[in-house]
Amino acid sequence: GPSGRNVHDLLELAITTAGAAGTMLIDKRPADLRVAHTKSSPTDVVTEMDQAAERLIIDRIRASRPADAFLGEESGAAAGASGVRWIIDPIDGTVNYLYGLPDWAVSIAAEVDGEVVAGVVAVPTRGELYTAARGEGAYLVRRDGSTEKLQCNAGVPLERALIATGFGYSAQRRAHQAEVLLGVLPRVRDIRRAGSAAVDLCSVAAGRVDGYFERGPHEWDIAAGGLIVREAGGSIGGLNGRPASVEMTISAGPGLYEALHDLLVPLSPERD
Ligand code: IPD
Ligand code: CA
Ligand code: CA
Ligand code: CA
Repeated sequence: GPSGRNVHDLLELAITTAGAAGTMLIDKRPADLRVAHTKSSPTDVVTEMDQAAERLIIDRIRASRPADAFLGEESGAAAGASGVRWIIDPIDGTVNYLYGLPDWAVSIAAEVDGEVVAGVVAVPTRGELYTAARGEGAYLVRRDGSTEKLQCNAGVPLERALIATGFGYSAQRRAHQAEVLLGVLPRVRDIRRAGSAAVDLCSVAAGRVDGYFERGPHEWDIAAGGLIVREAGGSIGGLNGRPASVEMTISAGPGLYEALHDLLVPLSPERD
């Protein structure tokens, strides 16, 4: 039933909900968004779109599953009794959304008893939907319905690796991120900063980049993408065996993951 823990039911609901949010975000995006935003106050039109999308997502899920818990970037935590928790980033890559750049995503993950079992990252401007169910692989479904099973690149040496990264928004964190980057850049093929952690993780899963690291991502940035990467044969984690977190999130296929981790450990400052 609708309050059950069936992974396929959870994944299906995440897919339809992310699709609805993506359509709304494209249809309702004001044409002059960037100009309006530049002129406006802290409670601005971008924030309104983030909040509207999160409301749409939570309302839709709650309508069929009233006992579930939620963690959303915009609304925070809401408790529930079902053992299912939804982790939501309504727009991951807000700055891209603001500027009309294509790489932003709706990210929805479903957890059962604290473990992510289903994840969806929708990239509406590209007509791409990335999905994963635990133990069942990761897939890219295109607008035309064509589906591709995802597989991370394996065995890429560090010096030939294309590495995605991101920068959080606090100035202090950025100073530390720049320090880490100084140590990484000379050691890899090149760096990409797409502007969405969820898209970065899907790019690792699809083999479009070889790896990803970032100091600063939150749970909602990486919950769905993390499952997608693992189901594509890759790893995601933090420093010295700790889980992926604000401190550091590292993701790559086998071989490169260990090399990237070992490069990052001595570069990483103790705290932000
Ligand atoms: C941000 C994006 C960005 C990453 C930041 C995130 P937001 O999320 O994922 O790529 O570098 O750490 O905060 O604010 O656009 O949802
Ligand atoms: Ca985000
Ligand atoms: Ca966001
Ligand atoms: Ca944000």
